Amino acid sequence: MTQVSWSPQSWRLRPAAQQPPWPDDDLLERALKELCALPPLVFAGEARSLTRALGEVAEGRAFLLQAGDCAESFAELSADTIRDKLKIILQMAVVLTYGAGVPVVKVGRMAGQFAKPRTSATELVGEVQLDSFRGHMVNDDAPNPQARVPDPSRLVAAYHQSASTLNLLRAFTKGGFADLSQVHIWNQQFVASSDEGRRYEQIAAEIDRALHFMEACGIELSSEHSLHQVDFYTSHEALILGYEEALTRRDSLTGDFYDCSAHMLWVGERTRQITGAHVEFLAGIKNPLGCKLGPSVTPEEVIEICERLDPDRVPGRLTLISRMGTDRVTDALPPLLETVRDSGHLVTWACDPMHGNTFVSNGGRKTRRFDDILGELRGFFEAHRQAGTWPGGVHVELTGDDVTECLGGFGDIAEEQLHERYTTTCDPRLNARQSIDLAFRIAELLRG
Ligand code: PEP
Ligand code: CO
Repeated sequence: MTQVSWSPQSWRLRPAAQQPPWPDDDLLERALKELCALPPLVFAGEARSLTRALGEVAEGRAFLLQAGDCAESFAELSADTIRDKLKIILQMAVVLTYGAGVPVVKVGRMAGQFAKPRTSATELVGEVQLDSFRGHMVNDDAPNPQARVPDPSRLVAAYHQSASTLNLLRAFTKGGFADLSQVHIWNQQFVASSDEGRRYEQIAAEIDRALHFMEACGIELSSEHSLHQVDFYTSHEALILGYEEALTRRDSLTGDFYDCSAHMLWVGERTRQITGAHVEFLAGIKNPLGCKLGPSVTPEEVIEICERLDPDRVPGRLTLISRMGTDRVTDALPPLLETVRDSGHLVTWACDPMHGNTFVSNGGRKTRRFDDILGELRGFFEAHRQAGTWPGGVHVELTGDDVTECLGGFGDIAEEQLHERYTTTCDPRLNARQSIDLAFRIAELLRG
């Protein structure tokens, strides 16, 4: 292929996997044009702050917590849903910061996570074969053929839902809700009464005491902005490239291009081909980037990805998110860690312990075992210990709701219970209790 210089459109000259078969080109054009005229959702300066924060992670001085839904839902745009998800992420961050003594960089799979890559173009729902659900940015999850037709007006709807979500996240994290004196109210009722909720409550009480102690010593806490506000960033998989292109803007300060649909964008396991459209697009934007790595990736491919996505070797620019599965992590991850370490690329390493551990239960539901999730995390920490590299973070799918989607954990959810509160539109998520439990385990691994 002849090399043309990068532009927000240059991905169009490359093969783009996972793009929906939009039925009407004119409608698509109209939607994309509308998006081009809408204001950016995030600012370039914020993306640069996240790169700096992730640089601290890459250097081994901080930890990344990237978490949220597998697929956000158009049906779930309520203050309660957003707040409850934020609560869990803040709680997990407290457990990690307090339990392991490292600053935690908080990034939501929120305010834009509306598109899903699918292994197969069709799926069996009950007795009927339907076109696969591709995320609410593309089609609807209802089990009928009409709902599954891609609809470009959904691109615009996704932008607006992202804007409202982000607005509320900003209000919550900057307007008092994330103040450290509020640690108790993040513990939701149904969590507080559980073992892991009580464990969290202990930490919250200790933090309270420490704050009172400092006040009693005459330390002026009201001016200490980091106690009262939280930096919370957004991220999603950059999958539907027309949407990402339309929200890509040139920063007036630096002249660089930023994809202003989120602070951080990642490329998935199914679209990370080195000559493909997704890698081409991401290579030219200045946001911090992620790349998922499954068990089939070779060390040579990982180096190609590093060179393509982080040619200037900027710490914080590239987060490699391994998702090997608990059975594969100990053999598949170490060669990658060693090769990247020896190449001199300073990347952030994160573990997605979810996507390599998915299976279909006897009842036909996609699920994951809490023990497999934990097993992959153990393997990830152990591999880093052996390679002398920093296990920089975790990437998990969770919800603030009391769902029954993943098996095991303290509540010990069994296969027969999965149907009780199974509400995900895509992959199974950890519920609030399982998430807090996991944070305690990760803190232990970090300390160890
Ligand atoms: C995801 O993060 O929801 C996803 C599809 O992951 P992966 O690309 O790792 O399969
Ligand atoms: Co998923």
